Amino acid sequence: MPENDTPPPRRHPDAASSARGFATRAIRAAHRVPRVDQRPTSVPIYTAVTFASDDAAELGEVLTGRRPGYAYGRIDNPTVAALASVVAELEGAEDGFAFATGMAAIHAAVASLASTGDRVVATQASYGTTHAQFAGVLRRFGIAVEFVDMTDLAAVETAVAAAPTRILYAETIANPTIVVSDVAGLAEIAHRHGALLIVDNTFASPYLCRPLEIGADLVVESATKFLSGHSDALAGVVCGRRELIDAIRAFEVDTGAALAPQAAYLVLRGISTLALRMERHSATAAALAAWLERQDGVTRVFHPSLPSHPQHALAARQLGAGGGMLAFELDGGRAAGEAFIDALTISQLTASLGSVFTMVVHPPSTTHRQLDDEALRASGITPGLLRCSVGLEDLDDLVADFERGLRAARAAGSFAEEGPARPAPAVPA
Ligand SMILES: Cc1ncc(COP(=O)(O)O)c(C=O)c1O
Repeated sequence: MPENDTPPPRRHPDAASSARGFATRAIRAAHRVPRVDQRPTSVPIYTAVTFASDDAAELGEVLTGRRPGYAYGRIDNPTVAALASVVAELEGAEDGFAFATGMAAIHAAVASLASTGDRVVATQASYGTTHAQFAGVLRRFGIAVEFVDMTDLAAVETAVAAAPTRILYAETIANPTIVVSDVAGLAEIAHRHGALLIVDNTFASPYLCRPLEIGADLVVESATKFLSGHSDALAGVVCGRRELIDAIRAFEVDTGAALAPQAAYLVLRGISTLALRMERHSATAAALAAWLERQDGVTRVFHPSLPSHPQHALAARQLGAGGGMLAFELDGGRAAGEAFIDALTISQLTASLGSVFTMVVHPPSTTHRQLDDEALRASGITPGLLRCSVGLEDLDDLVADFERGLRAARAAGSFAEEGPARPAPAVPA
């Protein structure tokens, strides 16, 4: 982005402007952009959808990508481009492109690479809407999708080798089971079979893991979560090699999931404190997970910091810390889980993650409601599983709140029978 971005217009000097009618003068005056000689210390929010060129040749060159610059907001915007370049830098990527949501970023990454007749091998354990996009949208467009357990590298190899595979798709830390993928191992398998590895790094963020540095070809991220960090902006980002990002940029121009500059600004603001937040999220989540593991009525706790986590050693190598996401199962299944959530007073009852405040959800009825019972089982999601996005509150307050939840869960669980899954309510995100 140019450092001083508002030179006076060369093409349209308004010398004779006083002879013009009121409406013309009002429009021209109201669209005069102030010149700023000093550098703003935060990235300006460029709300303009249209950017004017000095002549037709320049406009043509900008629109066709032969000259850097801006012409139309769906194609590019300085605030959005600033966000994409920041995330690319933090992920160790050559280039990046930002989208309206994480789902749009995932779709663009996959659909810019795969066409009808191609094959994708994807993780069984993933965000529910990612599973739905792969099983529904991609298959409807003739892309074959096979779901496998990414923690079983032999099974991944068998699936990838079974037929020519274009994409291997994993999550660094899976939603909601906190399964950790061996990115370097998956990259090695993908590349040996001519496939590209795409990794969703939403739960880890580039502070805890940089998948591109250990072999992934593209990293996708819901910037709605830890990157922005305050649950007030929707955004997604894809980062990787320039030629891959060029194809993704072209895909977005034709499909239109452009990020709003206001949201890009909020994500940029969040990124300034990403390191501090991830340290605190990780420390509090590790302490809460260790405490939960000692409580009556808690049957399993999943957090990468726990020695009992199935990929604890891998996580210690691959992640800077355990992250802010944990999952746990309660004795008493779904009824105990609902009683637990209803008794909490600090946690927000909503279906997102990665914010300053704590959120506890029941994945089968919220974030993973699109999965039928068989897909839930295959993804490792038991009826009583709860997922917690640990916020930045004081640990003692969270422990006291969870104690309250556990008391309610024990009371409910003592008479609760595990019934069949109820119909999934329509909950956003
Ligand atoms: C791991 C993961 N990836 C992608 C998404 C989608 O992000 P968005 O809601 O920004 O589209 C989510 C949303 O929860 C997620 O958890």
